[in-house]
Amino acid sequence: MNKRLIIANWKMHGDLAMAGGFAAALGQVNTVEVVVMPPMAYLQGMAEAAAGQVALGCQDISPFAEGAYTGDVSAGMAYEVGARWALVGHSERRVVHSESDQDVAAKCEAAVEAGLSPIVCVGETQQQRDAGLAVETISDQLASIWRLLLQAPAAGIAYEPVWAIGSGQVASLEDVAVMHRSIREQMRAYDARMLEKVRVIYGGSVKPNNVGELFTDDAVEGVLVGGASLDPESFRAIIDVAAEQAAAEKE
Ligand code: PGA
Repeated sequence: MNKRLIIANWKMHGDLAMAGGFAAALGQVNTVEVVVMPPMAYLQGMAEAAAGQVALGCQDISPFAEGAYTGDVSAGMAYEVGARWALVGHSERRVVHSESDQDVAAKCEAAVEAGLSPIVCVGETQQQRDAGLAVETISDQLASIWRLLLQAPAAGIAYEPVWAIGSGQVASLEDVAVMHRSIREQMRAYDARMLEKVRVIYGGSVKPNNVGELFTDDAVEGVLVGGASLDPESFRAIIDVAAEQAAAEKE
């Protein structure tokens, strides 16, 4: 099984002091891979303070390498200040900034070209789920990114049902497992080499008290944590559950 990937997505929260002290507050992490994604403004400060102790990523990037794109930050710039991972296609970007699947693919391509490992977020709305369209929606969102993930240094797909994000309503293990297996089947059909490189992780109201159940299914290869990643203690508690389960699986 792939090493579990635990990602903190701070969204637009935090400050310089939080970014500076976070890695030290987390402490050492071994059996799982941890990536923290602070707001872009704090990335460099955090990279300096963390001194390689945790990997860092950005929450979004420009699809362009450089040019007259006021307000954008390129993947190369994010890499230069310490990012090694980039989130693309988070549902908050798709909804608030009207990003299409094509935009997400362009961002994914820009990340890969700059040497960043992309985490592509996908997820259905409650309406799409109720209409029985969840699996189809996710397949459509992924259709143009497979070729890009094959070229990436490492990569992840974050299945985040839109209705589960920030709502306190985590998806059932059964629904998560069905979706993760469907994503891995699509990967296998495209190119089986991806199965070892691309981890399928879950996001949406992950907390220390529900992550253990999610990890009972080995189709859940990690988690993307929003709200519960803002406090180093609760994020650490999530890491510890993942690490304990990884150790138990080894025995
Ligand atoms: P949440 O956010 O854990 O606060 O639900 C997850 C995400 O949007 O990445």
